[in-house]
Amino acid sequence: TPRVFSGVQPSGGLTLGNYLGAIRRFVDMQNDGIETIYCMVDLHAMTVWQEPDALRRNTRELAAGYLAAGLDPTRSILFNQSQVPEHTQLAWIFNCVARMGWMQRMTQWKDKAGKNQQNASLGLLAYPSLMAADILVYHATHVPVGEDQKQHIELTRDIAIKFNNDFGVDFFPITEPVIEGAATRVMSLRDGTRKMSKSDPSDMARINLTDDADAIANKIRKARTDPEPLPSEPEGLAARAEARNLVNIYAALSDTDLAGALREVGGKQFSEFKPMLADLAVEKLAPISTEMSRLMEQPDEIDRILGDGAARARDIAAPILAKTYEIVGLLRS
Ligand code: TYM
Repeated sequence: TPRVFSGVQPSGGLTLGNYLGAIRRFVDMQNDGIETIYCMVDLHAMTVWQEPDALRRNTRELAAGYLAAGLDPTRSILFNQSQVPEHTQLAWIFNCVARMGWMQRMTQWKDKAGKNQQNASLGLLAYPSLMAADILVYHATHVPVGEDQKQHIELTRDIAIKFNNDFGVDFFPITEPVIEGAATRVMSLRDGTRKMSKSDPSDMARINLTDDADAIANKIRKARTDPEPLPSEPEGLAARAEARNLVNIYAALSDTDLAGALREVGGKQFSEFKPMLADLAVEKLAPISTEMSRLMEQPDEIDRILGDGAARARDIAAPILAKTYEIVGLLRS
């Protein structure tokens, strides 16, 4: 039976990329009636420095984002990673299965560690091993993510395969990434060759889930484009990164694909298309930001939801970890 797991880092500021590439897909899978487990990966966030108070606040804000986007704690298990110690317990075992070279090859490691790898935290290097544990401690079969996480899911599969081989078992499933929809890689509004990211120094490059209607409309109005009208076929966007990105966003927000969106907006000038996109974005996103602010005024309620989710998550994770300990020969008496 399918079981879905995914996570988002509470490192401050949710973007339209997080929403379209991940959180909205989480909601779709929940609403399909599949068993869904969604985590706020606070232990991953701290692989780079986080102010303790900001980490607490950002974890609650991410929880508010999950709920405002339509995740329902009675239908999905929602919790923060550090409340389920089985993740780190399994991660240690995976640290001993995975090879250093596998970690050093990860593009996210290379990007985030930068030139001075010697000065990056050890946690940043081991990050994908904890991610594999997040997924496999539930025997999750499907992981909805944006395109940038594909390499980490492949590594998760490699860890499962090596574990099963090393110990001669058929224990961990080989997880499938689910990278679907029109917005698996939302790009910066200022540079169509760069990913939209919360760490971009320019706030104009991204739409935040907490932006109000004016901010959203303003950022779309100022988004970089080219002088040509929109083509009527996707091929016409091949060499037009900024235009393609805006049409992809439009497609994702209106639940269609690139071809479907171009049937509607092909032939239009940006002067006409941008206000359409801004209206659609405000219509879809402003209610989420309003609901997030409302929820942020009830931190106790958020904490209660996360505590309850963690208890339910542990009920699934504990027996899988116990069986893993037995397989590898860790004595329990
Ligand atoms: P994170 O926190 O960087 O991003 C959360 C999710 O948002 C997606 N995403 C995007 N999708 C499309 N366009 C973008 N511009 C964009 N930016 C971000 C990401 O692909 C991701 O799905 N390592 C993960 C967190 C994690 C995880 C896990 C995910 C930890 N354990 C287990 C799945 C399963 C991360 O850093 O995501």
